Amino acid sequence: MMKIKQITDDPTQVRADAIAVLVRDNYELTKSGTKLNTVLKGQLKKELESTHFLVKKRNSSFIYTGIDVPSRILCVAAKNSDEPATDALREAAFVAVRQATARGLRSLAIAFDPSKDSEVQAIAEGSWLAGYQYVRFKTKVEKDKQLQLVSICSSRQDESSLQVAEVYCRAVALVRDFVNEPPDHLKPSTLARKAEAIARKNKLRFRVFESSELEKMKAHAFLSVGKGSTEQGRMVHLTYKHPKKSVAHVALIGKGITFDSGGLSLKTEKGMEHMKSDMAGAAIALACVQAAAELKLPLTVTALMMVTENMPGGGANRPGDVIRSMNGKTIEITNTDAEGRLALADGLTYAQTLKPDYLVDIATLTGAQVVGLGRLMAAVIGNNDSFVQQVVRAGKNSGETMCPLPLFEPYRDLIRSDIADIRNSSGIPEAGTIQAALFLSEFINHPKWVHLDIAGPAWQEREWSVYSKAASGFGVRCILHLLADIGRT
Ligand code: BES
Ligand code: ZN
Ligand code: ZN
Repeated sequence: MMKIKQITDDPTQVRADAIAVLVRDNYELTKSGTKLNTVLKGQLKKELESTHFLVKKRNSSFIYTGIDVPSRILCVAAKNSDEPATDALREAAFVAVRQATARGLRSLAIAFDPSKDSEVQAIAEGSWLAGYQYVRFKTKVEKDKQLQLVSICSSRQDESSLQVAEVYCRAVALVRDFVNEPPDHLKPSTLARKAEAIARKNKLRFRVFESSELEKMKAHAFLSVGKGSTEQGRMVHLTYKHPKKSVAHVALIGKGITFDSGGLSLKTEKGMEHMKSDMAGAAIALACVQAAAELKLPLTVTALMMVTENMPGGGANRPGDVIRSMNGKTIEITNTDAEGRLALADGLTYAQTLKPDYLVDIATLTGAQVVGLGRLMAAVIGNNDSFVQQVVRAGKNSGETMCPLPLFEPYRDLIRSDIADIRNSSGIPEAGTIQAALFLSEFINHPKWVHLDIAGPAWQEREWSVYSKAASGFGVRCILHLLADIGRT
């Protein structure tokens, strides 16, 4: 991982391959920008006033100064006036680091003069998120062309914000690594093993439930998903508990389909293309429990990863099959591609036996979420308005937008089955995200439950906002803000 440090606030003294000047919405220079402008005899101001600045790539432009220090300046507009200032800063830092990387620079200083700890954190987050690369399968990596060091010019010597940003972004990077991993390299057994290594390193309580145990526990809804794969499903259980002071217990249940082919209800070529990402929810649960331990949050955090593969092998679920879930309800499988809700049903049932105070599930659950809300926000649906609002707030504070949708009771009729208690798909695509949440709610007997559908934001088709192309790690920062908030109560 790239290094980030804080240095004193005089950018004219900084030795770096370039200095990025983050410019506020009104294009007025901050204190350090003004200092640079003086050294550069007004060159900076002129660039900002020129009309072409705004139409350049993501509102950024390079200036070659013609002097030694600083030799290159990168202006980036931190605009987006209707968003919180921290979101604009995070994105501006992201753009600065991406532009510096594209030019093969090795060090970058960022001049902005943050006035709050949250601004330092946002700049650091944007930088780290932009520094991420997935190069495991590249045979040639030009390491010396990577940006190594970002220095944030600031009079606030705020080490703790930098540390928090680092823990958050390491958790995001962990999720991105897992989600980017090709599905032939990350089978259910591999994911469980990797989770065990993380548990050991962080001294977390750890247990894997293999299929024989899950049979005994009657987790047939979950187990049925893996029947068409060469590997059986596993439920991975990790717990972090603060040794002295745990004010609440939060359970995170993640959908962990290492590849979703759709099963016998096979997906199309396009629909299947990125389905290695269908384990993002489980990876997020894992990354968050790790970060909770690193931050020593005053909580108990349980991660339940429902890890399995949805394939169309000879033993696979058939449309028409009826299975009995762990809580006793029978499910008619009308579409084998609606497998996430089957996996989560038993995960949620099991989680409630642990008596958590809060129940949060995270899943790339429905194509309808992608259609309805796109790739820069997730859907949040729950059975407790104030808890849903708490999640929405955590989303706002983290920069990961959570859009509330209702658990609309009249639609429950859609998931009734003729021959079983419920069916996993109605065949009606309308309000698909709500239908899926209603299905999950059949397994909830708990006062504080939220379901996060991250189908869209988990995977990015192109680089934008603070996400690189491919796996985004979306959801991690919101959940960590939520955990911190719960820890404060
Ligand atoms: N993993 C998919 C949902 C998905 C779609 C995630 C696109 C990311 C991008 C899920 O298992 C699925 O296939 N859902 C079906 C359910 C339907 C058959 C009721 C869907 O949404 O089409
Ligand atoms: Zn599916
Ligand atoms: Zn799926």
